[in-house]
Amino acid sequence: MRTAFFVTSTAREKITVFDTTLRDGEQTPGVSFTTDEKVEIARQLSDIGVHMIEAGFPASSDAERATVKEISGLGLDAEICGLARSLEKDVDACLDCDVDIVHVFIPTSDIQREYTIRKSREEVLAATAEIITYVRDHIGACMFSAMDATRTDWDYLIEVFRTAADAGATIINVPDTVGVITPHAMRDLITRIAAEVDCPIDVHCHNDFGLGVANTLAAVEAGASQVQVTINGLGERAGNADLAQTVMSLESIYGISTGIRTPALVETSRLVSRYSGISIPPIQPIVGDNAFAHESGIHSHGVIARSDTFEPGIMTPEMVGHRRRLKIGKHVGRHAVRQLLEDVHITPTDTQLDEIVTRVKFISGKGKRVTDADLYSIAETIMEIPANEKAIKLEDIAVMTGNHVIPTASIKAEINGVEHIYSSVGNGPVDAALKAILGISPAAIQLKEFNIEAISGGSDAIGHVTITVEDERGRIFDASSSGDDIVLASIEAMINAINLVHRVR
Ligand code: KIV
Ligand code: ZN
Repeated sequence: MRTAFFVTSTAREKITVFDTTLRDGEQTPGVSFTTDEKVEIARQLSDIGVHMIEAGFPASSDAERATVKEISGLGLDAEICGLARSLEKDVDACLDCDVDIVHVFIPTSDIQREYTIRKSREEVLAATAEIITYVRDHIGACMFSAMDATRTDWDYLIEVFRTAADAGATIINVPDTVGVITPHAMRDLITRIAAEVDCPIDVHCHNDFGLGVANTLAAVEAGASQVQVTINGLGERAGNADLAQTVMSLESIYGISTGIRTPALVETSRLVSRYSGISIPPIQPIVGDNAFAHESGIHSHGVIARSDTFEPGIMTPEMVGHRRRLKIGKHVGRHAVRQLLEDVHITPTDTQLDEIVTRVKFISGKGKRVTDADLYSIAETIMEIPANEKAIKLEDIAVMTGNHVIPTASIKAEINGVEHIYSSVGNGPVDAALKAILGISPAAIQLKEFNIEAISGGSDAIGHVTITVEDERGRIFDASSSGDDIVLASIEAMINAINLVHRVR
């Protein structure tokens, strides 16, 4: 079911998706991708159908130039773009990388002109014409950005864009550099540019007021044909318009096909989260953990009956590579608990179910998270089901770490009655230990999430570890453990998860 609620007559049927995760996204404070990470992200972006990738700013360093060159040489389906200030040496650096398109920019607002490049309006017009002519003398495609366009005097902005188009810009970009425009004003601005400048329009919206995606969509409504986005909304300050949110809004709300392979959105977001070190908030739209999760009794009951009672419907978890999950917590209801237990073949009577729900609400009402492992163990106790024989019993663990050694863990465990020993190295002691356990796990499971929080203060704080795993049938389970040794607590949580997966097989 798709409902195109808001398609306007000016919205294009085809929108190109320009991703700048590797350029503006890498300008996120604290983010720095290695070349290998950039290459992998570029491959992923191209694989999911992104039309154009801004691979970097080649003039900024030799290393950046080498990386952009490497990405250009990969032969990806996506076109590769390099960023340049309005300087010939910057353009030359892009050309040296064999990019498909050069993106030149110059500040046009009075504040940026006067305080950054110290050029008059006339000088900016002349520099615009000169640099675009230079680019077009060397390469067939040039994007021109009037930096801080939305805070530029609009009559002057039109003059700048006309100059750019006359000099040969193949697309003009309207950056909302400090994220201050509103959707209404963006619609007016793009409508005016489209009427007065003969050139395709692109938008680049920052998210300082949380309006990045809304402003991008407003630009599309008014006739922009290209959107600049980043994975997870990375970018300067509060970031840029998020790719997943923009693409899914275009697809599901506007009914505009972007050509993006949307079932890969969650995996792409996780890849970039891993490499950027910026975690995805659970309530992040589309890709966040809670995007299709339901806890309250009323909502869970609704979605069990029909998913679009409490989900958009025009966007399903499958469309974005996510899963619907019923979560256990303070607001859980009988329907959700029954469903979760039935999924693992536990069928309580009505009275037993009432008791299980009461116990779950009691525990989570005290602020404690109830994991799947906790739920099954509550059910087993109340229903007097003998606890299953454990698949894996930890016998010994030794972990070595230090400033001159690679963290290494060795584990001895009894698996279905037979003793096994396994060692692994990792990025840290916890990583090494979890890899060692997964190396001997009798169940094929993948670690999806790992979370640790300190329950009390001080260096002797109790750490509470919660992990989420996926079994070979794609089912998701969580388990936890606490202790004052975070390595041991992590190992115990993983062993609980393995035994849980074994129990519900
Ligand atoms: O925010 C901005 O104005 C930019 C330009 C380089 C397009 O990132
Ligand atoms: Zn930007």
